[in-house]
Amino acid sequence: MLEAENLMVFFENALALNGFSMQVKPGEIIGVIGSNSAGKTTLMNTLSGLIIDMRIKEKRKGGERITVYGRILYKGKDITDYPPNERVKMGIVLSRERHPIFPESSVAENFQIAGYLRKRAEINQVRKYVYSLFPTLESLRKRKAGFLSGGEQQMLAIGMALVVKPELLLLDEPLLGLSPLMQKAVMDAILDLNKTEGITVILSEQFARPVLPVINRGYVVENGMLTLTGTGKELMNNPEIKAAYFGV
Ligand SMILES: Nc1ncnc2c1ncn2[C@@H]1O[C@H](COP(=O)(O)OP(=O)(O)O)[C@@H](O)[C@H]1O
Ligand SMILES: [Mg+2]
Repeated sequence: MLEAENLMVFFENALALNGFSMQVKPGEIIGVIGSNSAGKTTLMNTLSGLIIDMRIKEKRKGGERITVYGRILYKGKDITDYPPNERVKMGIVLSRERHPIFPESSVAENFQIAGYLRKRAEINQVRKYVYSLFPTLESLRKRKAGFLSGGEQQMLAIGMALVVKPELLLLDEPLLGLSPLMQKAVMDAILDLNKTEGITVILSEQFARPVLPVINRGYVVENGMLTLTGTGKELMNNPEIKAAYFGV
């Protein structure tokens, strides 16, 4: 479904992604595991095309700070130069790190905003599904999104991405700052949308523990480089992973 070949991203002279490659098959849940600054967000921005917008903005400011090399194929098509909106139309939807919601609007209005290109009936259908995934959200539907807890905002952010009807959903650190209970609710929801809606998922995460049991395969990244890859199970049993991520 998706192939990334030898991605290199420079911010000025700093290499944020260094020859990173990955292959994703339809229906998979893929984890990208790496510590802070490993390059997870840069990878997500590169796959979603956001990096192209960032590069253009930087250029306008007078610098040529961001350089991207490598190739991205989606369903066999070379989308390396496609801007994010083109990729969204093809079904690649990114839910960014740290909840990009509209804080002054209610939970229900946030769905409306995210689905502005969709028919009302479609939005309502997805909203119903999201409320079944996250029953808490339904009881909070009239609350301003800015007053939700971190976990509730993350649920809303995932819901807003679903309104856009992703085929490939990119989730950048969806567990960041959440309690173990909330992390479990989010991981359960990811499993559900994968199983019942057939959505392919790439999610990034610093902490392997809640993620490895759920993912089909994982890519471990350090300093922008792929250091290890395998099934969730293989990674869970890997001594290096155990030492680095499980403290044993
Ligand atoms: N806009 C930017 N300008 C300069 N350096 C950046 C920028 N974004 C990320 N970086 C650098 O690229 C590396 C990877 O960052 P990032 O992709 O955000 O990692 P992660 O999401 O895994 O924490 C880091 O060294 C970071 O400092
Ligand atoms: Mg990040």
